[in-house]
Amino acid sequence: MELKVALAKRRSIRSFLPKDVDMKTITDIIRYANMAPSAGNLQSRDFIIVRDDHTKEELCEAALGQEFIMEAPVCIVVCANLQRISPYGRRGRELYCIQDASASIDHILLASLDYNLGTCWVGAFHEKRVSDVLDLPDYARPVAIIPIGYPAVVPPMPPRMDIKKLIHLEKW
Ligand SMILES: Cc1cc2nc3c(=O)[nH]c(=O)nc-3n(C[C@H](O)[C@H](O)[C@H](O)COP(=O)(O)O)c2cc1C
Repeated sequence: MELKVALAKRRSIRSFLPKDVDMKTITDIIRYANMAPSAGNLQSRDFIIVRDDHTKEELCEAALGQEFIMEAPVCIVVCANLQRISPYGRRGRELYCIQDASASIDHILLASLDYNLGTCWVGAFHEKRVSDVLDLPDYARPVAIIPIGYPAVVPPMPPRMDIKKLIHLEKW
């Protein structure tokens, strides 16, 4: 798929068909995700693949009851790795590892389109609860839960602001 088409086509999918996604597809998508840039190429991000129904239920609870998390056959939880980024000190811990994770999250959303899969970036969750559910070490911070599956419903694009309101020429 042409990149510009993919960028325009991607939507947050919150409804999935009851159809599995095989492990090779998920691994391929994560391989593309890790081709995203990262600070110092330290790749300060980790990917937890969740298929277990009970774990998905717990993630759903941690994410304020967003039930489509349970509907998806697979969830990828993307974590920032504060240990791997440690050569960059405080800026690494507070910013770079979140950016490393976020860049890879967007790659997951876009790469999934090439497999006809839908995704949603879920960021509203209790971090501590997600960390407990997934046995995260204290140096891993969950950044997003991404449910992945074949879309049941593809919504229209939510409106975007007039781009002129977002662009500043030369200075703010
Ligand atoms: C940081 C971040 C957090 C988000 N958290 C949630 C979430 O918890 N639940 C949800 O349904 N969508 C979440 N979204 C998806 C947005 O709601 C969605 O991207 C936005 O409404 C635009 O729609 P689109 O993705 O279809 O273009 C999140 C997106 C981002 C970037």
